[in-house]
Amino acid sequence: MDYPHFEVSRLGAGMLVAIVAIIHVAIAHLAVGAGLFLALAHTIATRRNDRLMLDFLRRYSLFLVLVPFVAGAVTGVGIWVTIGLASPPSTSALIHLFVWGWAIEWVFFIVEIVAGYIYYYGWGRLTPERHTAVAWIYFVGAFMSLFIINGIVTFMLTPGDWQPPAEAVGVSAQLAFWKALFNPSFWPSLFLRTISCLAFAGISVAVVANFVRDYTREQRHRIINFGSYWLAPFGLMVPFAVWYFATLPEDSRRFAMGGAIAMTLFMAFGLVSSLYIGGYAYFGLIRQKRYINRETSLLLLAVAFVATGAMEFVREGVRKPYLIHGYMYSNGVIATPAWRERLSKEGILAHARFAWPADMTLEQVNALPLHEKGKYVFNAQCRHCHEPGGPNAIEPLINNASRELVTHMTAELNRIKSFMPPFVGTPEEMRALVEYQLYVANPKEYRPPATQPADVAMAFSTGN
Ligand code: HEC
Repeated sequence: MDYPHFEVSRLGAGMLVAIVAIIHVAIAHLAVGAGLFLALAHTIATRRNDRLMLDFLRRYSLFLVLVPFVAGAVTGVGIWVTIGLASPPSTSALIHLFVWGWAIEWVFFIVEIVAGYIYYYGWGRLTPERHTAVAWIYFVGAFMSLFIINGIVTFMLTPGDWQPPAEAVGVSAQLAFWKALFNPSFWPSLFLRTISCLAFAGISVAVVANFVRDYTREQRHRIINFGSYWLAPFGLMVPFAVWYFATLPEDSRRFAMGGAIAMTLFMAFGLVSSLYIGGYAYFGLIRQKRYINRETSLLLLAVAFVATGAMEFVREGVRKPYLIHGYMYSNGVIATPAWRERLSKEGILAHARFAWPADMTLEQVNALPLHEKGKYVFNAQCRHCHEPGGPNAIEPLINNASRELVTHMTAELNRIKSFMPPFVGTPEEMRALVEYQLYVANPKEYRPPATQPADVAMAFSTGN
């Protein structure tokens, strides 16, 4: 909490992270899948002395080093920048736990990139055996970086037996690391991601083949048909998604199955578009050996992007109200009773220096009219999900609700909506937050309370 607040007006910092991350995931999946495609296709083409396929692989590797490598590196750094700005406490917690995981991942990433460039510049320079070996090294590097990142990403939703540092007395740091990495959703998620990687590779083959001018239609057709086998496993998304969802916490599963309608719809989008791609690949491309033209290949790419984006959005969304399930709330507040008790005595504002203006002291903030002070309480613990005037803004949610209702809602946030963390702070801060919400909902009609509603402290002391 005690970190600078990153404001992205209208959009919200979380949405910015989501946009960068979804683009990155699609590109990174493409780069990993392309690794397996290159390695296998190169091995087969070399053995058969398939000139056309080797020529295509040379062009495909140029595409790889120009588009996915550059865009992947830029958006990958973009993820670090945006998560570090949007959520310093969880980024810090993850770095503390996974520092060696990330170190290992970076090594694999460097292996991937270096091998990718050697592969590209190796055309006409490397012997066929060495060239094939480099393609396999590229694949192993790329896949292993997915392997490690998959562990870190799944950990946030399913930490499993892992215990927060403060409670894990006598647990060795190494054991904590391995438990966290190989958490309950690690394997189903790895399978899902691998399938998505293969599909992106298959589609990108069709796209690149369509952009090479000097191929005849027959030549293109043969290449596209070869690439289409990589798409067929997309239909397996559904059983693996079922396995994946079976490993999720009860609450998260419920959100995806109708408990939070936005999540349910996104999941339906994801599954239907996956089935569509898998079905098209199997019936159209593999059985009927159809040709894909440029427009269709781009359309398939777009559908795969929507499918991946929707699934990633669901994975992030169903983790609410946590950033790290059971350990840290989405607003950065540590989810232990001891911490909650401390904040309800000392106040959240005392622990969120950046939520209120730099040129004020805490005494000055506390002396403000309630609805003004409430803005800073809101910044400290609600802004992560409710952007004023942007996504999930508070005005329409409050609408014309009475002071009594808003008071009770604020005291029981986690009870009305299980995807919201509970309020933490002093009773006075809660009153300020209630007044702020009433104020932003109707600034013109807002009237400060004549007397303090007596039941606020009561409502708060019973809520949790
Ligand atoms: C983890 C994200 C998250 C955080 C943090 C969060 N909210 Fe929410 N809140 C939501 C979502 C999602 C909804 C549902 C919006 C909808 O139904 O359209 C919601 C709904 C609400 C509603 C309407 C409740 C209803 O029954 O319709 C209120 C009031 C509200 N939030 C207030 C707050 C306040 C005050 C805070 C800070 C103490 C807060 N929220 C923190 C995600 C969050």
